[in-house]
Amino acid sequence: MFDSKVLVMFAFVFVVICSVRVEGRQGARNNRRMQDALNYRQSRFLSLFTFVQFSNQECMGTGGENGTCLTSAQCTQRGGTGGGPCAGGYGICCIFMATCGMTIRENGTYFVNTGYPTPYDGTGSCQITLMKMNADICQYRLDFLQFQLMGPEQQNNICNNDQFIVSGGGSPVPPICGLNNGNHMYIDAGSGLGTPMTLSMITSGPSFRRNWKIRVVQIPCTSIYRAEDGCLQYYTGVAGQIMSFNYDPANGLQLSNQDYGICIRTERNFCGIQYTQCPDTVNNRSQSFTLSGNTGNNNQVPAMVGSTGTGNFCQNDYLIIPMASNVGRPVLGQITSVDRICGGTLSADVTLNETPVRSKSFKIVT
Ligand SMILES: *[C@@H]1O[C@H](CO)[C@@H](O)[C@H](O)[C@H]1NC(C)=O
Ligand SMILES: *[C@@H]1O[C@H](CO)[C@@H](O)[C@H](O)[C@H]1NC(C)=O
Ligand SMILES: *[C@@H]1O[C@H](CO)[C@@H](O)[C@H](O)[C@H]1NC(C)=O
Repeated sequence: MFDSKVLVMFAFVFVVICSVRVEGRQGARNNRRMQDALNYRQSRFLSLFTFVQFSNQECMGTGGENGTCLTSAQCTQRGGTGGGPCAGGYGICCIFMATCGMTIRENGTYFVNTGYPTPYDGTGSCQITLMKMNADICQYRLDFLQFQLMGPEQQNNICNNDQFIVSGGGSPVPPICGLNNGNHMYIDAGSGLGTPMTLSMITSGPSFRRNWKIRVVQIPCTSIYRAEDGCLQYYTGVAGQIMSFNYDPANGLQLSNQDYGICIRTERNFCGIQYTQCPDTVNNRSQSFTLSGNTGNNNQVPAMVGSTGTGNFCQNDYLIIPMASNVGRPVLGQITSVDRICGGTLSADVTLNETPVRSKSFKIVT
């Protein structure tokens, strides 16, 4: 899209050059009129150029960050730093970074730890304030490009050393900790322009090399890529990978007190979803799913399903996949579909073998 605008710009320059040539052959009488036309064209050219520059086009900075293409003066005035040329060299790719105590107003700002890119080994509270760039902002998408805090304590898996806390806004967001590289959240920006939110990194406890780099994108209420209400995570496309917070096969622990929705956009011509557990490549085993089930060794615990029963069922921690059933085999003496799933294997009935789980609902809750 941006490239096509640049092309339009160059085509226009070409037209202006042609008319200068024509002017030379037509003599002095037409000179003034041609000059006016040229000025007119130049001013249109300039306003087109201005439009391209100031329309918040995304660009890729030399350091790999996404920025906004601005003039150098604008970038400085808005508190960004230059990350290489954009718009064919007419602008600079302005990167916005913020750390403790700052307020974010620019789309695509990166919230980084003190001393970034060096890890931060200290205690305290690092907060930034999120302000909507305009009244039509309904959500923020947080991309955890880097997110390494201390994990939860080992008894009840509560984040009592370090925590990432989102406050203000609409729906509540569970506090998280540990390793969350590559994960994301959509947070409800609340109504009205004057409702700032805060993102807080609380670090306490022993020495630890913490780092974070979180990209904060502002999502207009009217945009098609806005997540549905009640979805803390939102996936698009026909395939993807869902990870719980602090998913870390090396030494991750399931976090306590989480309760959130994960949504998958219904893509055109699709009417259901199939879930399969991913291989755990770190521990060289097939299952990466355990929810109050086995804990890292090879004593595999069967899948548990449902909320009541005499055998194994899910009372404390579970994933809700509405109307889930197994793929390709009859349900073994069980109810035909379940909602709650837990245990040491992903399946919609009590079995040791993982089985792909199918559902027609595009929202799951954990
Ligand atoms: C830049 O934006 C693209 C598209 O939104 C995204 O996939 C990528 O992760 C972003 N990169 C960074 C470093 O923010
Ligand atoms: C913020 O940036 C993202 C990614 O470039 C874009 O999709 C979104 O529309 C922008 N938000 C606003 C309010 O312009
Ligand atoms: C992974 O496990 C399989 C059997 O489960 C074994 O044959 C293989 O050697 C293991 N690979 C590694 C790298 O340990």
